[in-house]
Amino acid sequence: MTVAASASRFDEVIDRRTSNSMKWAGAQTMLAPDEAAADPLPMWVADMDFRAPQPVIDALVAAAQDGMFGYPNGATKSYVAAVTNWQRRRFGWEVAPEWVVQTSGIITAIKTIVQAFSAPGDSVLIQPPVYAHFRDDVLLNGRFPVDAPLTRTADGYRYDEKVFEAAIRPDTKIFILSHPHNPTGNVWSEAELRSMGEICARHGILVVADEIHQDLIMNPALKHVPFASLGEAFAENSITCTAPSKTFNLPGLQSANLFIPNPRLREEFLRQYDRNMFPLVNVMGMVAAEAAYAHGEPWLEELLAYIRANHAHFSQAVNGLNGGLRVLPADALYLEKCRGPLYDEFALCGMAGEPRPGMPPPIYRSRDDLMRQTPAFQATLRRDRLDHHFDSAWRLLDNHFADANPYMPAIAAHVDRVEKMIARDDFSALTGVPKPIMAAELRARMQSPPN
Ligand SMILES: Cc1ncc(COP(=O)(O)O)c(C=O)c1O
Repeated sequence: MTVAASASRFDEVIDRRTSNSMKWAGAQTMLAPDEAAADPLPMWVADMDFRAPQPVIDALVAAAQDGMFGYPNGATKSYVAAVTNWQRRRFGWEVAPEWVVQTSGIITAIKTIVQAFSAPGDSVLIQPPVYAHFRDDVLLNGRFPVDAPLTRTADGYRYDEKVFEAAIRPDTKIFILSHPHNPTGNVWSEAELRSMGEICARHGILVVADEIHQDLIMNPALKHVPFASLGEAFAENSITCTAPSKTFNLPGLQSANLFIPNPRLREEFLRQYDRNMFPLVNVMGMVAAEAAYAHGEPWLEELLAYIRANHAHFSQAVNGLNGGLRVLPADALYLEKCRGPLYDEFALCGMAGEPRPGMPPPIYRSRDDLMRQTPAFQATLRRDRLDHHFDSAWRLLDNHFADANPYMPAIAAHVDRVEKMIARDDFSALTGVPKPIMAAELRARMQSPPN
């Protein structure tokens, strides 16, 4: 819908109904026949209906004309420069080139981070209502989400440090921060970020700052402050996730970046990433991302003005209906939140609204539900947990055999920890493997030299 006063490139209506898009075609499969018959607009995933910036299209056409699509040799210097210059220009944050790790997407990265920095059965802190993948991917990997819910206020949701710290358990290893927060649109202040970061540091929890929506600040009075830009201690205990996908409407090209200042975390992430997949990104995704960061800024400024106008138009129209729904202010993201008499509904944010009467509950709500509902998964979890502990002991030993290394005390401590865990009855009960067999397996693995 056209809401800007003068003509804009974003006025063009692109009909994607017949395209193979998750947003349009995929939505049809999620609807009951009567819902599909109403032909609703698919406001459920952060994927815009605007054409990508022309410099991106031009760069892709040039690369396609070149006709060479061989394996890329990792990130080029010009690619890394485009990414790091963007962070400096837009947020005043100096990202060192060696911190940049390419990935095909943030969901992929988060799954890998969960595997690398926690063990099956550990817990991961999240701030609901939040992007559904945070909860789902944690559960999918046999870890458990612990909720530090945002407090519902008259106009939205806010952070409460007491709630945040109280949610932490002894087995909480990771906090996944959504910043700006999807779906509430909260742009976290420096003080809030410091509070979250300091609490996590105190409890030995790694912060994963998902900043994929960093460029979409709707309230011009607010500014995005990257979590890791707060200082060295914050940078060293965090992994920042960014991508040009939401900003420039390129999610299908699967190109994203992580910034990992701490070399130990970087090495551990890469090790797990390499196990899961071949660590190269699509050449065309890289071409598009570089062009977007290097030449897409004017397009983005125009987009922000256009979306701000759309937000204003949407709230005026919905509030004017007097239908019991009130649109809440939006500080960030191109999504809308509406407050109804019973629950809040979030649109364009990749998640459903709050649970409401008559709706089936989510399949898994808690550790207990998960255990009750899926005996097969439970068995896998036990085996995974055992393997994870053997494996991390093995990797430490591997380092040890590789060369004289500084990790010897850590290796000894870890082996000791695994042995103690095996000696405990509850670990044996949890894994379902008898103690003597586990102990024998551990000894055997440790005695045979690595290949
Ligand atoms: C907070 C958040 N993180 C991650 C993603 C998905 O990222 P990717 O497509 O890079 O996996 C989304 C998409 O909506 C999102 O809102």
